[in-house]
Order: sequence, then C-alpha cells, then structure tokens
Amino acid sequence: MAIIDGKHISDLIRDELKDEIAKINEKGDIIRLAVIIVGKDPASEIYVRNKIKACEYVGIESLCYTFPENVSEEEILSLIDKLNNDESVYGILVQLPLPNHLNKERILNKINVCKDVDGFSAYQAGRLFLGENALVSCTPKGIIELLHRYNIDLVGKNAVVIGRSNIVGKPTAMLLMQNNATVTVCHSRTTNLAEYTKKADIIVLAVGKPQFLTSDMIKDGVVVIDAGINRVNGKLCGDSDFEAIKDKCSFITPVPGGVGPMTVTMLLKNTLQSYYSTHNARN
Ligand code: GUN
Repeated sequence: MAIIDGKHISDLIRDELKDEIAKINEKGDIIRLAVIIVGKDPASEIYVRNKIKACEYVGIESLCYTFPENVSEEEILSLIDKLNNDESVYGILVQLPLPNHLNKERILNKINVCKDVDGFSAYQAGRLFLGENALVSCTPKGIIELLHRYNIDLVGKNAVVIGRSNIVGKPTAMLLMQNNATVTVCHSRTTNLAEYTKKADIIVLAVGKPQFLTSDMIKDGVVVIDAGINRVNGKLCGDSDFEAIKDKCSFITPVPGGVGPMTVTMLLKNTLQSYYSTHNARN
C-alpha cells in the first residue's frame, strides 16, 4: 500500500511553475489572476486565502475583490466586464457559493471563456468533451496529474467515478476516458453500487459523504482517489473509510493532503495555460 502524497507533488509542480513564470516575468510580462469573493463563508475564505498564497509563491499577481453579502449583481457584472477587458488579467475566478440573491449562471457566464481558469463554462467543458486543448476544471485535472506522477497505468483499466457533478465527476470521467480507461460513472441513483466498485481497478470518490467507501466494496490492489471534503467533529475527512480500506489499496489519497493541494496548483497551471493560449492567439 502506498499513500499518494498530494502535498509533495503539488509542491514539485509549484516549483516548476515558479521557474517557468520567472522567465515570463523577465521578459516584462506579468500574469494576473482575479479572484472575486462575496460574503463571509468561512470555507470560501480559507480557499481564497490558499489560492492567493499559492499565486504569490509562483509569481502570479493576484487581484482579490471582496464584496459584502448584499452587493448588487450589477456591481459584480461590471467588475467582470472590466477584468475581461484588462489584457494583463489571464484568469477570472468567482469563488462559489454565491449568496442566493445573486444569479450564479448570469455572473459566471459574464466571464470571458478564455479567462475561465475554473473550467466551468460551457465553452471549456465542451472543449474537454471534444478532446481539444481546454482549461479543465481544477480538481479533475489534479486527479489525473496525480495518477500520472505516480505512474499509475490507466490504459484498459476499469475506472469507476462516484459522483456526476459538472465540476468533478463528469470532467474526471472525460479525462479518464481520454487516458484510455474504461469508465463507469455511478451516482446517488445507482443500484448495487458495490457491484461496480468491486470490479474497479481505480475508484474516484466525489460524493460528499464521510466513510462512504468501505472495505467490503473494493478488491485487493485498487487505487482510490478521494476528492471528498467533509468535516466530522471539526476534523477534515474524505469519502472513504480510510483506516479500514488503506491496506487493501495499492494506492490511496489521504484527506487532507491528497487531491486538495492539487486543486489549487491546477488553478495556477490553468492561469499559465491561459497566458500561453492568449499569446499564441495574439502572435
Ligand atoms: N468553491 C468550492 N470549490 C470551488 C472551485 O473549485 N472554484 C470556485 N470558483 N469556487 C469553489
């Protein structure tokens, strides 16, 4: 059994990005990422703080816009419009969730798709679907990067993704398929889930329920990638019964320290990718 060290891999990639961005800065180019946060959701505040710190480390300049809960939709839309037109801004991110009175779709749809470093837009999701170079949602991108960095072979393997969200489940399934795995997507309405998981060589969890994947549901040697983030008695945990299943797995990601750090790192990578795409398009 090996525990996949997402923090370590994430640190390696951040160092690679730092070197690459230093060269861009030497040419006189600055890469900016705009982050918009509304209200006082404690988890969002922590995520945004982590994103800003990570930007600083690699040399991406972050522009953080903090709004009170009662901000008007017009104000956010006009800020996004301004950022869309700012050529030094390569990524625009609206931290979710937004307060109920704001129309999430309208706000997200305002972001220029070329600057959609979260990969949430229909344009970027469509490019992923078509197998074209896309800004891919950060958690799925991080999951595939972890599998590659640990040399875990995906070709012809049975991969089971549990969860069908637009942000994690669906894009993860697309990426696994692109990497020649045979992919099954299971979800809350799947009957006999264990029938699928017992045959899986790779299981990706994106459920949001602690201790969801148990030892009786898996075969020996399975790879478990846990994208769940749950809080139980104040402690972070994923979707697997980690202690009970770990010895049955060939590889497993812990929570925290598995997929989580990779998500932020892929945001940095997407911002750099947006810079490169823009300049190739401009040249
Ligand atoms: N809220 C929770 N996760 C995310 C994410 O990946 N991106 C954004 N924008 N908001 C989030």
